[in-house]
Amino acid sequence: LFRSQFQDRSNSMGVNLANDAQLATLAAQIQAATGPWTAGPLVPGATSAGATVEVTSPADRRVRVGQWQAADSATVEQALRNATDAHADWNAVPAASRAAILEHAADLLESRTPDYIAMCTREAGKTIPDGVAEVREAVDFLRYYAAEARRLFVVEALPGPTGESNSLQLSGRGVFVCISPWNFPLAIFAGQIAAALAAGNTVIAKAAEQTTLVGHAAVKLLHEAGVPAHVLQYVPGDGASVGAALTADPRVAGVVFTGSNATALAINRALAARDGAIGTLIAETGGQNALIADSSALPEQLVKDALGSAFTSAGQRCSAARVLFVQDDIADKVIGMLAGAMQELTVGDPALLSTDVGPVIDADALRMLDAHAERMASEARLIATTPVGPEVAHGTFFAPRAWELQSLTQLQRENFGPALHVIRWKADQLDAVIDAINNTGYGLTLGIHSRIDETVEKISARARVGNVYVNRNQIGAVVGVQPFGGQRLSGTGPKAGGSHYLPRFTTEKTVTINT
Ligand code: NAD
Ligand code: ALA
Repeated sequence: LFRSQFQDRSNSMGVNLANDAQLATLAAQIQAATGPWTAGPLVPGATSAGATVEVTSPADRRVRVGQWQAADSATVEQALRNATDAHADWNAVPAASRAAILEHAADLLESRTPDYIAMCTREAGKTIPDGVAEVREAVDFLRYYAAEARRLFVVEALPGPTGESNSLQLSGRGVFVCISPWNFPLAIFAGQIAAALAAGNTVIAKAAEQTTLVGHAAVKLLHEAGVPAHVLQYVPGDGASVGAALTADPRVAGVVFTGSNATALAINRALAARDGAIGTLIAETGGQNALIADSSALPEQLVKDALGSAFTSAGQRCSAARVLFVQDDIADKVIGMLAGAMQELTVGDPALLSTDVGPVIDADALRMLDAHAERMASEARLIATTPVGPEVAHGTFFAPRAWELQSLTQLQRENFGPALHVIRWKADQLDAVIDAINNTGYGLTLGIHSRIDETVEKISARARVGNVYVNRNQIGAVVGVQPFGGQRLSGTGPKAGGSHYLPRFTTEKTVTINT
């Protein structure tokens, strides 16, 4: 059940890339990819660098993946100067030419799909199906924002009185800082950069510390495709030093951020504390995502979708289902099936095709999940734990787990891993369930399993979330098809991969001519 959802997924062009033969070849290539791998700042004119960071595999901490060098404060300053100076020229490049460069990058990336999957597996512990989806989404973002730039960057003639011509046009805002998370080291990283560049901004990109090597490879590819080195720069480093220095600088016109809610708020405060022009913030953050199932749901489909939504990518998706609200009439049956299906998942080496659930990203993530499991042991009923073998002993693995809770208030924060919670509800409690979900303050994804149109309509209308999925899983939004992003604690909008996204990276100019 669990595997099939990967193998029938196709990209936004309707092309199914993940047939068995291709996956088997990929697996062999990934297992063969063991060479040393290094990265550092990509900042023209920088003459020094900061500390060196060693990278080991999340699947086996004894395996060295490579190392990277952080940007020091002089390198950050150089990057800011370069990006500021380069903006006028890049902004003057016709949007169609900027788009052509991004499309070339998409072609290059697609032609090197196995290499980039291997990188995501080695540094981030991504399984092969996740790696396929990661590259596919990055390619889709590059093509989508290129197409959006061609569509939007036209001079729009406006009506006016006789003797006057009016027009409206977009241009880039200036220097954009792109700050991304480790869980989509290529897709979100490239998507943010593609949007900012397409709109005529210069970019300083900072990948998450845990996936700095993948970020470096992506920037190199964009340079190879034709993005000038001063227009797109790469500053590896941690959030507290490099990230904070960038967001505090008044030369930065905007920040596009994906990551935790706490960091989004810190960046918002940093932007507000600066003197000078008001900074733009586009933030996509976490969720406490629910799946509501009523008694008309089909148990087999519900369990398949709950399993996929909670445990794909080891639950390390902002979109992942964290809480399954199941109506009491079918609850025993669904919980029993869920427990059975969880015994069938394979946890292990992400480079093996047989693996369903790979490692979590690092020791900190594992500690947080272990602490959650400890708390649940005294506050909830354990439904099931997926069995794991001794082969996971040297990696950061957390066996998928499900618990039954009494109330959503027992969950105080997003648990970013393969941890699902189940809550029963009675027929007269649907309003209370929707209120409880809204009262978390988060508003990212919501799944609904019901065959009753009125119920689907009611929940969809009242839930204060960004993405609603009915009778399917609730992860894996496709660029341009399911524009993705939340509201309230989950983000500022606009949605990535949607038609309102690119304008947020632009400024508008109206020209009025007395003819
Ligand atoms: P994080 O907030 O810890 O880090 C994200 C990025 O912010 C990293 O690059 C980090 O170095 C940087 N950063 C940290 N402190 C900073 C500061 N003070 N100033 C500037 N930058 C700083 O998040 P994470 O652990 O990497 O990612 C997981 C989180 O991301 C989860 O909460 C998840 O739900 C969320 N996420 C959301 C989406 C979405 O689209 N809504 C997508 C993926 C992940
Ligand atoms: N866009 C990612 C998903 O939909 C986070 O799962």
